[in-house]
Amino acid sequence: MLVGSSLSFQSIIHSRRYRHNICKELLLVKSKSRTRFGITRCKILGSVNRQPDKMRLFVLSDLHTDYAENMTWVNCISTSNHQEDILLVAGDVAETYDNFLSTMSLLRKRFKHVFYVPGNHDLWCRTGENFLDSLEKLNALLHACDELGVDSKPKIIGDLGIIPLFSWYHESFDTEQDITGPRIPSLEMVCKDFHVCKWPAELSERDASLARFFDAMNEKHAHSIEEIQQKCKNIITFSHFLPRLDLCPEKRMLFYPNLPKIIGSNYLETRIRLIHGAKGRETACHVFGHTHFGWDASLDGIRYVQAPLAYPRERKRRMNGGEDWLPFCLHSEGKFTDRQHFYWSDYYSVNAREPDNLQPAPWVAKFYKRRVQ
Ligand SMILES: [Fe+2]
Repeated sequence: MLVGSSLSFQSIIHSRRYRHNICKELLLVKSKSRTRFGITRCKILGSVNRQPDKMRLFVLSDLHTDYAENMTWVNCISTSNHQEDILLVAGDVAETYDNFLSTMSLLRKRFKHVFYVPGNHDLWCRTGENFLDSLEKLNALLHACDELGVDSKPKIIGDLGIIPLFSWYHESFDTEQDITGPRIPSLEMVCKDFHVCKWPAELSERDASLARFFDAMNEKHAHSIEEIQQKCKNIITFSHFLPRLDLCPEKRMLFYPNLPKIIGSNYLETRIRLIHGAKGRETACHVFGHTHFGWDASLDGIRYVQAPLAYPRERKRRMNGGEDWLPFCLHSEGKFTDRQHFYWSDYYSVNAREPDNLQPAPWVAKFYKRRVQ
């Protein structure tokens, strides 16, 4: 559900024209800025040479299989190439229960192990589905995962410790100065979660209660997490939402500058650091989703990776050429794969963040100018 310089939070946008333009963001930005930032990009290679007997770990987020093209994409994943492999699904599988079930069934048949954490779209209460609220739907999804053999709890496989982390966003995650203006829509206008997620009275998207609630769900796995910390050198945590603000481009780069208010959780980063250590380590990795920005960067000793399938229209405009590099192979032959190149993580590897600079990027200024015309 994102908007942003390509936070394809399109699903949150009500205005059709706004939505259409927002989706164009990332790729537009990428192609225009490619040489300006002086970044040489490499073609992302989709697969690591197959080594029979060797278990590999792949990651994928934001499948959005309510789009028929995306469901077809999942269906086209090889039924033979991954029979020894692990797949981490970092949320936003589908908006309807039926599509969720179909998707996870397809994935389960293709991978030996599938892990899942819920995203915001997964918890939408759609007309025609009889869930009392989003928590009831969450329970139904986790129950379905149990039935299918999809893991949503920490587990050791081989020498890998895999830890799914539940999370939700809170507005106070965004600590950078706002860009304001009469043409920038409110969160209520753009974030569909506010309309189609339903919560008990004590939980709200407008404070940190939901973020705390989801974070507390991880406590019941404290024992398993401790065991993984003791036994495993290679530990991969994963969530749907962002643990750090600097995993999203600055506001001036985004078509929807308020996006950082609906993407991440400080509680999540605290928990990740408790697991991987305050300084991280060479073999520490966290996988996330939600913003639809491909990302691969090491920050304070932890490698942070996002590999989103995203919406069909976004894929067509990607510099890296659609989806042939997905699912993204993160671990193979007993070690993590090399860091890959993505536009924004490459950009911030050579450019400092300037949150006090509120001057909209040229593509953003042009977009808002068009909106008034
Ligand atoms: Fe999401």
